[in-house]
Amino acid sequence: MEAAGVIYLDANATTPLLPEVLDAMLPWLRDGFANPSGAYAGAKLARKAIDTARGQVADLLGADPEEIIFTGGGTESVNTALWSLHRLAGEGAVVVSAIEHSAVLRYVETLGREVRLAPVDAGGRVILEKFSELLDGAAFASVMAANNETGVIQPLAELVRLSKEKGVPFHSDAIQAVGKTGASLTAIGADMLSISAHKFHGPKGVGALWIRKGLRFTPLISGGGQESGRRSGTENVPGIVGMGAASVAMKRSTEDGMLGRVREIRNAFEAAVLAEVQGVTPNGARDHRLPNTCHLSFEGCEAAGLLILLDDAGVACSAGSACMTGKQKPSHVQLAMGIPEELAKSSLRISFSLLSTMEDAMTAAEALKKAVEKLRRVQGLGVGPVQVYTP
Ligand SMILES: Cc1ncc(COP(=O)(O)O)c(C=O)c1O
Repeated sequence: MEAAGVIYLDANATTPLLPEVLDAMLPWLRDGFANPSGAYAGAKLARKAIDTARGQVADLLGADPEEIIFTGGGTESVNTALWSLHRLAGEGAVVVSAIEHSAVLRYVETLGREVRLAPVDAGGRVILEKFSELLDGAAFASVMAANNETGVIQPLAELVRLSKEKGVPFHSDAIQAVGKTGASLTAIGADMLSISAHKFHGPKGVGALWIRKGLRFTPLISGGGQESGRRSGTENVPGIVGMGAASVAMKRSTEDGMLGRVREIRNAFEAAVLAEVQGVTPNGARDHRLPNTCHLSFEGCEAAGLLILLDDAGVACSAGSACMTGKQKPSHVQLAMGIPEELAKSSLRISFSLLSTMEDAMTAAEALKKAVEKLRRVQGLGVGPVQVYTP
């Protein structure tokens, strides 16, 4: 459990439930336990709640509700999309970017196909000409909409256009982008998009896959035929209802300026750190970043040590990505961007959410300044690398 009073700045790892999301879910955890496939009144109510949520998610994505299936989370959505493309596409390689999340990178390794990694530039964006070359003879492609570590938004419309030109089906892991950009991700013409509720103030363990109408599809999980036979298994009704409520909140946040507020807070935090701390490099193409993400390298400071000092000061953030935390390995994303290994090990990801406040951001900037000063003093005395383990 997150300790009371902690300043939580790790929203790209996960976000807290919005109060309205919790309120929407509670009745389905308490009394609304019926199996939605039943023939009685309670079951029909559960079915109706799922349909409502499907409409809410579709609305956030600018999609038709029939194009949405619910899954057990982002990783499952990604695996499902890639499995279907793999089974239905002809022979050929799979093209993915070098900076994908492990949900993509590890899964494509299991398919027995050639995996081609599209390189990124120093700003962390996929290089279009290289991507285009890799598409020759490819069976399908998958590129994320925005990177989880750097927050860098990918040139998705161009990537989709290039794939279409070469007749290569295209999936995007939109798990970090959805709700954070205000752009309609379905309008750009991809074939499938994966999303995950816990990245936008919904519950964990529930996600969705958008499957473009008319696209041939084969399920990863077969059984009772739920989700129109596209994802079997008794539906997670509270989770799905929560994802629907979170979708409504995220759509509203792009319309009522809350997303702009998140950007202001991130920018103020970054400006304060850059003004107060020497030897800091902001990473990622500045004009193409999610509004909530800040990725900074601190010369001469191991990220693991900074995390310990920040944790002591009551600030929770991340080194690179959550999955890299605790491993003394530089992240593949930073290495792909050409960031030197030492600097890559000295990077923090600070990510804000709709619940972040300016006051917290300023307190965290001050704590970070002190942590960097302290670590540089200590490491200057010849103390070796700090080990940290996060399960
Ligand atoms: C870009 C990206 N893809 C996939 C995932 C996996 O999503 P989930 O945690 O819902 O399985 C994450 C979460 O860390 C992510 O950031």
